[in-house]
Amino acid sequence: MDKLNMLQEKINQAHLGGGQKRIDSQHSKGKLTARERIELLLDEGSFEEIGMLVTHRAKDFGMEKEQYLGDGVVTGYGTVHGRLVYVFSQDFTVFGGSLSETHAEKICKIMDLAMQNGAPVIGLNDSGGARIQEGVVSLGGYADIFYRNVQASGVIPQLSAIMGPCAGGAVYSPAITDFILMVEHTSYMFVTGPNVVKTVTHETVTSEELGGAQTHAQKSGVTHFACENEVACIEHIKQLLSYMPQNCEEDAPVYPYEAGNEIRTKLNEVIPANPNQPYDIKEVIEEVTDSESFLEVHKDYAENIVVGFARIAGRSIGIVANQPASMAGVLDINSSKKGARFVRFCDAFNIPLLVLVDVPGFLPGTDQEWNGIITNGAKLLFALSEATVPKITVITRKAYGGAYDVMNSKHIGADLNYAWPTAEIAVMGAKGAAEIIFKKEISEAADPEAKLKEKEQEYLEKFANPYGAAARGYIDEVIVPDVTREKLIKGFKMLENKVASMPKKKHTNIPL
Ligand code: HXC
Repeated sequence: MDKLNMLQEKINQAHLGGGQKRIDSQHSKGKLTARERIELLLDEGSFEEIGMLVTHRAKDFGMEKEQYLGDGVVTGYGTVHGRLVYVFSQDFTVFGGSLSETHAEKICKIMDLAMQNGAPVIGLNDSGGARIQEGVVSLGGYADIFYRNVQASGVIPQLSAIMGPCAGGAVYSPAITDFILMVEHTSYMFVTGPNVVKTVTHETVTSEELGGAQTHAQKSGVTHFACENEVACIEHIKQLLSYMPQNCEEDAPVYPYEAGNEIRTKLNEVIPANPNQPYDIKEVIEEVTDSESFLEVHKDYAENIVVGFARIAGRSIGIVANQPASMAGVLDINSSKKGARFVRFCDAFNIPLLVLVDVPGFLPGTDQEWNGIITNGAKLLFALSEATVPKITVITRKAYGGAYDVMNSKHIGADLNYAWPTAEIAVMGAKGAAEIIFKKEISEAADPEAKLKEKEQEYLEKFANPYGAAARGYIDEVIVPDVTREKLIKGFKMLENKVASMPKKKHTNIPL
């Protein structure tokens, strides 16, 4: 065989992974192969492979004779919408995509290049975990990846798509990355599988129930996105990337935008006449952001807070918004954690923040207190306080108690604070307040009920408005809702070159 033919033969062999039979089996499960996924993800013809001819070094259990070029992972670089990304895609047709010493080295090489050259890493995970035949070198390989994940955190965006099994300690690499996307029905993540669960806790549970996409999208919040199939998952990755810069030293790409009439009269009708009636904050988000630019993150988890990316006048922003349509928009453990994690990503990658406030306070109860609402609620307060990106707040309605402070108040470093005339900024709700401060007067009144109502009204008139806060400059302007978008466009533009830094330190110590 001449030398060129030999090379071609090797390339053909590598492209076949674990062989046609296993490729067919992968397809029959509704899954794509590692290479098909890369093809969908990257711009046509842009993929450059690195390490195609790598093979494992194991000798035990007859492994010497079982060699597949590439060793179960396809790695390299290419572009998404013209921007450089690094990618690794595990090949389930080769030893179930399991991670060997050399498989890990290939992933590490890609991660090192990504760090040195300042571009995102995308991992397409489909793996039976540690290569059982290899023992500790496989575990070491995982740890080498985890270590790099941590080094890269906050330097380059790291995205993890779970497109098959992901179990045991292997889950911790995706967990450290910035975003996880799971494919419904064909992917799962858990630290110990159903069999171990049955033995230890006597619970009977399927893989899907224990760690499927819906479970992690709704119950645990481990995944940020549950995608209906692999194609949708890959589309989500591309969309997600469009809001991000390449690394922490750059800004996100600016999209073309044509200025027009920015007045949104619909916003004047959003807040119901009854202050206790819910409305959907996403209606406000849709109106103030560029058309169809909103990408919600963690959509099905802790729905009382909405987070996601959008664009305003073509520029990326991150949005954190209380959702009055879910539990009245109250802050609880899960919503605080969800908000904080998102804020920290935006701050790390220079994405300005818009905070929409309609919050009655923190959720009371033993469940919340015993599970640490104090520590967990502090996360959102901490994250917003330490964020140095441009930060704008709009209070649409309620801003009560500690939650007023937490939700990007002027006091914790917001740059511009707007309130609608419907805003209510006070220590607590009028009824509770009246009951405490007029306790004696009410109990001694001939008609205590009527007295309570009268005092409640008095408190409402005094505090259920934005003017006390505006008089002190805590609110920069009370605005008619229909000009909100216009104010945000101008505000974010004005803050475009903001420079702010934290005092010198090794790192913060966010309450975990
Ligand atoms: C080597 C593996 C493998 C592994 C699967 N294979 N997992 N080879 N090491 N970890 C091989 C199988 O032998 C098989 O080879 C092929 O991959 C496909 O596997 P099947 O079992 O036929 O596929 P399926 O029925 O779809 O089941 C997939 C699976 C199952 C659920 C992932 O294979 C499985 O349970 N594997 C073991 C998982 C595991 O316990 N891993 C170690 C976890 S501990 P052939 O030749 O037939 O194609 C761990 C620790 C990480 O990962 C720690 C990090 C700190």
